[in-house]
Amino acid sequence: MDILRTKPLARIKADGAAEGGLRRDLRLFDLVGFGVGIVIGTGIFTLTGVQAKVNAGPGIAISFIVAGVVSLFAALCYAELASAVPTAGSAYTYAYATIGEVFAWIIGWDLLLEFGLGAAVVSRSWSGYLADLFGLPPQWFTEEAPVNVGAILVIVVLGVIATVGIRESARVTNLLVLVKVAISVFVVIVGAFFITRSNLVPFIPESVPAESGGDALDRPLIETILGGAPSHFGVAGILTAAAVVFFAYTGFEAVANLGEEARRPERDMPRALIGTLLACTLLYVLVSVVLTGMVKYTDIDSSAPLSKAFDVVGASWAGDLVAIAAVAGLTSVILVELVTMGRIGYAMGRDGLIPPAVAKVSPRFGTPTRLTVIIVIVCALMGGFIPIEALSEMVSIGALFAFLLVSLAVPILRRTKPDLKRPFKVPFSPVIPVLSGLACVYLMLNLAVATWLRFLVWFALGVAIYLLYGRRHSVLGREAAVADSDG
Ligand code: ALA
Repeated sequence: MDILRTKPLARIKADGAAEGGLRRDLRLFDLVGFGVGIVIGTGIFTLTGVQAKVNAGPGIAISFIVAGVVSLFAALCYAELASAVPTAGSAYTYAYATIGEVFAWIIGWDLLLEFGLGAAVVSRSWSGYLADLFGLPPQWFTEEAPVNVGAILVIVVLGVIATVGIRESARVTNLLVLVKVAISVFVVIVGAFFITRSNLVPFIPESVPAESGGDALDRPLIETILGGAPSHFGVAGILTAAAVVFFAYTGFEAVANLGEEARRPERDMPRALIGTLLACTLLYVLVSVVLTGMVKYTDIDSSAPLSKAFDVVGASWAGDLVAIAAVAGLTSVILVELVTMGRIGYAMGRDGLIPPAVAKVSPRFGTPTRLTVIIVIVCALMGGFIPIEALSEMVSIGALFAFLLVSLAVPILRRTKPDLKRPFKVPFSPVIPVLSGLACVYLMLNLAVATWLRFLVWFALGVAIYLLYGRRHSVLGREAAVADSDG
């Protein structure tokens, strides 16, 4: 079963330390900057309002806590692996070390989907916010544009920064993160003065049946399987909203891809992963309470919930600040997603699963330049031409699938490599990793049937590419073949 070969840990560590690799330049502050940079984006600026309005009411704050706890479990698992095996491949490499090459490939392929579509989706909302802020022509910058020029431009410009180097990317990200976090905190404080208590009551609105009709493909898979009557609000509504707003947390795991660029990965990886997540959860819960406290959930505006809420209470200047925070926030999300895809592809190229010539690091910039250029072209085309709103759930299913495998990898590695030095250990293993895996499956089941079908198509395509290319060109595979013929 050559497709199940695993990569020895010593080999993974040696690859990470080899000459000509990525530069080890990042401190804890940079790592958290990257984390917060990729996490806070479209999710908080739009999904919060929409889900409060249709599924959770003020209980949206609880949805964020539920999704945050699921993410925290996964973050603990990532932290253990990222501190013990710091690598640019993150979940891809952990799977390679534990469950085998074909699974590793599938995870790498899945992560490219998550971050590639993430960058494309976010570039389109970036373009929309920019048009809103500066009154730019909608025929070039919004969903009605046949070619979304704003989305293409932002991806190309950020692609150049991602190519030029990790320090440059980190500097730009830190600045953008500072702007978005400062404005978001300020907005929470200002918004708190406009909270009307009665808007928050009842905190969990009573469940109401959904109108019949609607496309069967848009229903959550779990409803289709169990055949329950669709409903909004109540406890079920909070859980449905939790699955959707989970999107707002996706991306924190990209911190783990910087394992070969962190100065002190053993110490800083767990801190950065868990710190990022706690900071974002706190901010999300506060924004949820402020939003639903300012405006009755039934009156929330679906397109620009947060800025319109400030208009309603007569503080439209704060709404403009929200738009600035959104543009800064979304810029950093795209940048970090582009950087992360380069790292994952780099790790896969090093193992021979994609052509190494494509993934090699440029000696001048210290980044995988060719690969980044290819990624930028593909993402720019997707962002420019495909109306991909509906595909944002694909980002969530991609992330949840990776979290699931990382949760499995922790107990497997504890068993197969009990002596591995683990600077950070998930408490109560295997209970937390198992809970983490189950919670990921549950949230995945709450995503739409159409999302599952698209995901399966991507998955099948990935398996076909592996069988046609990766399996035969795998570095480990070729070494084993040479050893066999020598022996
Ligand atoms: N978590 C990121 C966002 O909400 C992808 O935009």
